[in-house]
Amino acid sequence: MSRGTFITFEGLDGSGKTTQLNRLAAHLRAQGRDVVTLRQPGGTALGDRIRGILLDSRSEASTGAIAPIAELALMFADRAQAIAEVISPALETNKIVLCDRFTDSSEAYQGGGRQLGSEQVLAIHQAVCGGLLPDLTILLLPDLAASLARARRRNQRHVQQAGTDENRFEREGDVFYQRVYHAYEEIAAREPHRVEAIRDDASIEAIEARIRGIVEARIEN
Ligand code: TYD
Repeated sequence: MSRGTFITFEGLDGSGKTTQLNRLAAHLRAQGRDVVTLRQPGGTALGDRIRGILLDSRSEASTGAIAPIAELALMFADRAQAIAEVISPALETNKIVLCDRFTDSSEAYQGGGRQLGSEQVLAIHQAVCGGLLPDLTILLLPDLAASLARARRRNQRHVQQAGTDENRFEREGDVFYQRVYHAYEEIAAREPHRVEAIRDDASIEAIEARIRGIVEARIEN
């Protein structure tokens, strides 16, 4: 069966992965390649509604605190819809799918950050996603403190400009993010063939060039 290429971007909030994903998409499109981009949570109409529940720090005022396992289940409900509606059809028609976050985020944030553990996350992944794995994952792991400072500044701007509040995760403390960071490191160590970890704090352009090199080598193989 012919199949496209599934590439995910991972990292902490503020790691620069969304910028890099957009730059890679523009580059691949300029080469005439058929590229589909999406983000998680979100990326479908249902997913955008789930995203609202998950990320709005005010939603807890109306729903009450979201239990970690409910949060995990909502992440996978979002993912199941994205796979059915966007990712599988695109891969079946030979496209390149660039996804901003996927199951590694659930393993890092819910498994690590919320301390549900990797085993439970991977079991749900198997049941809900049929084991669909990215061909390549670009994991941006620059310095933890710098990433957090960037994410917090960005969230402040967002609230002031757009009036939207996607603050629930950014409110978490440093210890939470240390656990997330550590979980990402474990994923990279466990799956070195799939996960390309970029740890340094080089310029956006330098990292962009590196990502292009990694992706081109994979697409050609
Ligand atoms: P988003 O605004 O997309 O952040 P970023 O630009 O940093 O990716 O928000 C996504 C948030 O949701 C982010 O804090 C990570 C969190 N998240 C999880 O906790 N588990 C998941 O499975 C996914 C996909 C995201």
